[in-house]
Amino acid sequence: MVRILRGDTLAGQMSDDLAAEVAALVAAGQDVPGLAVVLVGEDPASRIYVGRKRKAAGMAGIRSAEYRLPAETGEAALLDLIAALNADPAIHGILVQLPLPRHIDAARVLDAIAPEKDVDGFHPVNVGRLSTGSGAGLVPCTPLGCMILLEQVIDDFRGLKAVVIGKSNIVGKPVALLLLERECTVTVTHIHTRGLPEIVRSADIVVVAAGSPELVKGDWIKPGAVVIDVGINRVVDKDGISRIVGDVAAQECGHAGVLTPVPGGVGPMTIACLLRNTVDAARAKEK
Ligand code: GUN
Repeated sequence: MVRILRGDTLAGQMSDDLAAEVAALVAAGQDVPGLAVVLVGEDPASRIYVGRKRKAAGMAGIRSAEYRLPAETGEAALLDLIAALNADPAIHGILVQLPLPRHIDAARVLDAIAPEKDVDGFHPVNVGRLSTGSGAGLVPCTPLGCMILLEQVIDDFRGLKAVVIGKSNIVGKPVALLLLERECTVTVTHIHTRGLPEIVRSADIVVVAAGSPELVKGDWIKPGAVVIDVGINRVVDKDGISRIVGDVAAQECGHAGVLTPVPGGVGPMTIACLLRNTVDAARAKEK
């Protein structure tokens, strides 16, 4: 029987631990950690994610501020806001929710965030630190959440075969680097990969972040493999009923060793890791 590895319970523990840590920091005279969340436009999914992030921040004792800007906001105005947040001593973490409207160059915006406040880990300095394995930078939240989940069930990563499906800057590339750092043998695949089922069948660890509902079939999964499903897809069945599914056909994976559920798997861990990064950024500033 497959073991279902829940992220929501683990994220809850992380949040409780962070709340205690923040209370101790504040009792010792340090600033309350501050997180700025910037949302441009009215994307409904982004609004839900930002709301969840702020609620979770509040529960962990982190002060959060939301900057909601209209979709037609120009790039220069957004860069001005980021410059002000970079200079604000009460703000330790800055998160610009993606995607941004098309007229804004997302790379230029992410480059403008001070690397020490880049709690998403998307700034080139933090990407570079991750790729050199220095351990010094802020690490992207979803990949960090995937690794913490994997650590619950794997003691020794060395030499394990890991297959990542998806090559995004947010999940696929950074999670591949983290697995490589743990001395897995890592294969990064994507939508154009030929013979994907065969490649996945060889994996001890599968991390799927393809954004494609139930792409990964049960017969792609080696018996006993650990499967981390990052996908969150809304699908409508033939009766018009909508539901959330992952990138893995979960009901076909009874022979897997471990599987994360959707919802309640990686999603809550992403938020918990954002809070972790914010507290780390606040601590680093005090040093
Ligand atoms: N959009 C989808 N995932 C993310 C994320 O992890 N961070 C930000 N800023 N935007 C996102």
